[in-house]
Amino acid sequence: MELQGKKIVVGVTGGIAAYKAVEIVSRLRKAGAEVHVIMTKEATEFVTELTFREISGQPVAVDMWEKVTHFNVEHIALAQLADLMLIAPATANIIAKAAVGIADDMLATTLLATKAPIFMAPAMNTNMYENPITQRNIAELKSRGFHIIEPAEGHLACGTSGKGRLPEPVDIVRIVSEALTSQELTGQDLTCQLTGQKILVTAGGTIEPLDPVRYIGNRSTGRMGYAVAEEAARRGADVVLVSGPTSLKDPDGVRVIRIETARQMREAVLQEFPTASAVIKSAAVADYRPAAVSEQKIKKSDDDLTLQLVRNPDILLELGQMKEHQVLVGFAAETCQVEEYARKKLAKKNLDFIVANDVSEADAGFGVETNRIKLIDRSGKMTPYPLMSKKELAGIILDHVSAALGKIDR
Ligand code: PMT
Repeated sequence: MELQGKKIVVGVTGGIAAYKAVEIVSRLRKAGAEVHVIMTKEATEFVTELTFREISGQPVAVDMWEKVTHFNVEHIALAQLADLMLIAPATANIIAKAAVGIADDMLATTLLATKAPIFMAPAMNTNMYENPITQRNIAELKSRGFHIIEPAEGHLACGTSGKGRLPEPVDIVRIVSEALTSQELTGQDLTCQLTGQKILVTAGGTIEPLDPVRYIGNRSTGRMGYAVAEEAARRGADVVLVSGPTSLKDPDGVRVIRIETARQMREAVLQEFPTASAVIKSAAVADYRPAAVSEQKIKKSDDDLTLQLVRNPDILLELGQMKEHQVLVGFAAETCQVEEYARKKLAKKNLDFIVANDVSEADAGFGVETNRIKLIDRSGKMTPYPLMSKKELAGIILDHVSAALGKIDR
């Protein structure tokens, strides 16, 4: 009963996925939460009010002007009692209304009146979701602190296939439960969560020169690592970011050390490591480099060219061997047998956590704004996370780092 004593207001809007909200409410209640449902009129076309009343064990709010039975001013009362609001499914319409502050029904009004954290799970036809207006509205909500639970991809009720499915109720309930039990939403000041801790982050890809004009590199943009560094700084940490070449600007309040090669990254990391509390190694480090670097541009000839590559040092492996008090987080970028390989790296490199990253998916891993990972800890416990922004993911990784730091006897 991990949600015992928590009050959650669930908003259900008019999409075919409204039926999945029944399972969400049921699971939240089984976890011990007191759940209050607000339905839009359109939602009642898909699922009846009675269903939610039975499942939640509470009256269901739909109409602003209905005779109030259990609260004085219902939308204000629900807005105030909520520890968290969850809108699932969230249609393009409620997203647009929330983005501009329209309050024309019970749900939209409660959204405007609440100070509780708001989680929204958009679900709609792919074209509607990808429409720049919807995307702009989502970006606006994110910038105002709304938590957006990214839709899944797959077959949609409208007969098409693409992004726009409501994620599985079990995943939504897990995200909400984690948020409610994390320090962020339990009233502790998240901005101070890492005060006094030195967090060392690596980001981007290393490049390995062949000659003055060419190099071997990879597709890492640095976005994942920069998101971690930025979030760690926001939480009060003293952050050092060792970064490969990237077009990203230095995050505020972060000391950035720019490097190019794996050996330069190793040098910078080893320098900072002894005084670090935690290391998050999201960089894509080249495992090999050319055996020789030509001083002059290599001239082409009519023959094929064979490059000889030699092994680069494995920085994370070294850190695992050296580590004393540090919490060590590695990433595993894989295109197949992702979990199996990640578990092997976790053990071999003596890590506290590994972030298993399936980089064969178009919306996760290299280059994109989003990622989908499985987090595995040293006891072997694996937690899968649905697609989310790298910023949100950074928060999850740092929640785990904070919890692990809290257990270390200093
Ligand atoms: O930068 P983005 O475009 O946002 O993309 C993010 C990302 C895909 C790069 C990131 O999410 C990610 O998966 N990073 C790890 C990439 C990687 O090199 O994984 P790996 O499985 O090859 O390495 C395993 C771990 O060992 C990594 O933590 C890596 O930093 C470390 N390593 C690897 C090789 C080496 N010589 N030294 C190392 O320290």
